[in-house]
Amino acid sequence: MVSKVTVKAPSSTANLGPGFDVFGLAIDAFYDTVTLTKTKSRITIVTKDNIPTNPENNTAGLVVKNMKKKFKIKDGVEIRIEKGVPAGFGMGSSAASAAATVVAFDKLFRLKLDDNALVEFAGSGEKASAGTIHYDNVAASVLGGFVIVKTNPLDVIRIDPPINLRMCVAVPKIDVPKKKTKVSRGVIPKNVKLVDSISNLSNAAAIVAGFMKKDSEMIGNSIKDVIVEPARQHMIPGFAKVKENAIKAGALGVTISGAGPSVIAFSKSSADLKKIGLAMSRGFTSANTKCQTIICKPSKGAIENRK
Ligand code: HSE
Repeated sequence: MVSKVTVKAPSSTANLGPGFDVFGLAIDAFYDTVTLTKTKSRITIVTKDNIPTNPENNTAGLVVKNMKKKFKIKDGVEIRIEKGVPAGFGMGSSAASAAATVVAFDKLFRLKLDDNALVEFAGSGEKASAGTIHYDNVAASVLGGFVIVKTNPLDVIRIDPPINLRMCVAVPKIDVPKKKTKVSRGVIPKNVKLVDSISNLSNAAAIVAGFMKKDSEMIGNSIKDVIVEPARQHMIPGFAKVKENAIKAGALGVTISGAGPSVIAFSKSSADLKKIGLAMSRGFTSANTKCQTIICKPSKGAIENRK
């Protein structure tokens, strides 16, 4: 009988510019690892990381609570979390923990849930950090590759990215607010102009076409958001310069990664990715901010770690 399962889930970037709350891409920059062990009755969280250990306030804890309830499982579960994805930087940190937990729980209790059900439970855990449920990061982290999230009813479409797609992520070293996603969702306009909606829709459609045609240039050139990025960019020191520098250095498109403050540049393997990273770093320096840059590529989704 299986009594312990370990799953590793990747970081992710949400939105990809115009696809707010709809697009997600799993990226191999960072990973979270979650081990679930059956115990007598309670849910307990064990971690060395600085995250909430009360299951109600912890993404993984909420996922386990919701799944236990739904499937009427009486066993307790110990949740051991090793964070690799930095929390609060727009890299899908809470989603990675939720994704790893869902997949581990599914295996531990042999539920054999389908992709949409896994994503739905992972999304229920996101509530602990974002305040609201959105599925873009969790869908990418659970399933890997590029995802399109349809809601009501939830239906996730997954597409394999082109093999030469590359990203450079710049993670600024700044203090982020505690409920950062909630805060950065608060600055988004409630209504949008039709002309802006048309612009975002056309670019979003071209991004999907780019993934279908395995055309990294089409994807990168369409990373343009005239709705959410302008409303959020003031939260990122030096954003305009970071973006300008990355484009000058050869990036195809640049935008905020998820709810920020990381900035992501899209490119292809033939580009000088180190140069793009350096250019982004100089952009942050112009605003007296240090950053970590990571060159990365799309990742597979959450997978069991059989050590
Ligand atoms: N789509 C979400 C947002 C992602 O931009 O608020 C947050 O992780």
